[in-house]
Amino acid sequence: MRKGAGFPRVGHAERDMDRRGFIKKGLSRLFYIFGGAILAYPALSFMTFKKSRTEKIIFHPDEQQSVLNFKEGVCLVRKGSEAYAFSMRCTHLGCMLNYGAVSQRFQCPCHGSVFDRWGKWISGPAKKDLLRVPFATEKNKDIVVTLDI
Ligand code: FES
Repeated sequence: MRKGAGFPRVGHAERDMDRRGFIKKGLSRLFYIFGGAILAYPALSFMTFKKSRTEKIIFHPDEQQSVLNFKEGVCLVRKGSEAYAFSMRCTHLGCMLNYGAVSQRFQCPCHGSVFDRWGKWISGPAKKDLLRVPFATEKNKDIVVTLDI
């Protein structure tokens, strides 16, 4: 029997066309898959729950000397025997606040909410006081603030 009998002969040109067609089809399918993924991502990420992460911020004793102590987006207040901590994220949409040493107020750079030095809301769209965050005092007098991010 002759080698290749029973199979149609395919020339180089036809084989190239098949290869080109295969690559074109493959690329167009990849385009649709990636395009669909890009369009679906916002909807899927909105529907899925984000895992919360906990961050610990440590105020060492030498970082607790002032009435207001700032570190990594947290303000630790020491008023006599009273101590508390609050997040420096705006209660409107979460922008990081700036503290004005002269005005002694926290100001939001995004939409202009203003809070007093104790974290109480004064004006702007936020409407709520700054969020207090839990903390614990260690044996070595470190204050450890726990933030849920
Ligand atoms: S995020 Fe601060 S006022 Fe809107």
